[in-house]
Amino acid sequence: MNALSKDFLADVLPSQAFSQAEHASVGALGPQPLIRTGRLTLRRPEARDAGAIAAALANYRVSKMLTQVPQPYHLEDAEDWLGWLADAAKGAWVFAITLGGVRAILSPVAEAANSNVADRLIGVVAIERRASHGRDGWHIGYWLEESQWGKGIMTEAVNAAVARFFAAHMGEPLYSAVIPDNPASLRLQGKLGFDITGVAEAYCVARAEMVRLITTELTFGGYMPT
Ligand SMILES: CC(C)(COP(=O)(O)OP(=O)(O)OC[C@H]1O[C@@H](n2cnc3c(N)ncnc32)[C@H](O)[C@@H]1OP(=O)(O)O)[C@@H](O)C(=O)NCCC(=O)NCCS
Repeated sequence: MNALSKDFLADVLPSQAFSQAEHASVGALGPQPLIRTGRLTLRRPEARDAGAIAAALANYRVSKMLTQVPQPYHLEDAEDWLGWLADAAKGAWVFAITLGGVRAILSPVAEAANSNVADRLIGVVAIERRASHGRDGWHIGYWLEESQWGKGIMTEAVNAAVARFFAAHMGEPLYSAVIPDNPASLRLQGKLGFDITGVAEAYCVARAEMVRLITTELTFGGYMPT
């Protein structure tokens, strides 16, 4: 398996890969829900998503904001990651973001006309348990293909995933980390109530250099649902 692809989940989330043994030892979230919001459906990624993932992550403007995604990024990288995910990431919630939300379902004509578009993966949001940068717990990460930026889609997706997380883990914080030259992600997290907790460093594979990370944390008490 391509080691960089294997590390990708940790970067959808920002940090180190974790082994299956580590994963098993720190617990699990329980079964991953299917989540629908007004505009989106969040479902488990499937093998058919490989092309969309590869196209989105081949874009340096996306990969440079993640630490573990190689550049260039090939279809095989996406296929490796999906294979690894199906096999290993049982305890994590990894959502493919698609545009088939509740509104589309309530408009059957529109949904039928757009069924291929509606089910196409446009991004990923994931929550997994691991230890990184001195924080042992649940970590959230996400990316969206560039053509969909600026429409509030990731705020809607992260909000939905966070709400489901806190429904079961109210007493536990959610950790994240953002490269400082990513104001959109910092703004998104600020809107939802994430606090900045410090700084860290990591190697960014796409940039081929060390980068600083702003470490962040969301608690149930600080969470501001949108
Ligand atoms: C970060 C990312 C997920 C944002 O997705 P998105 O759907 O465009 O985000 P949203 O539209 O929900 O929210 C972004 C917010 O940032 C704001 N924003 C966007 N660009 C900005 C900029 N250059 N400076 C300040 N704010 C900015 C938007 O206006 C919006 O805030 P608003 O709702 O108050 O207007 C997307 O750009 C992405 O995937 N980037 C590459 C990968 C990545 O950065 N992943 C996260 C790693 S921590």
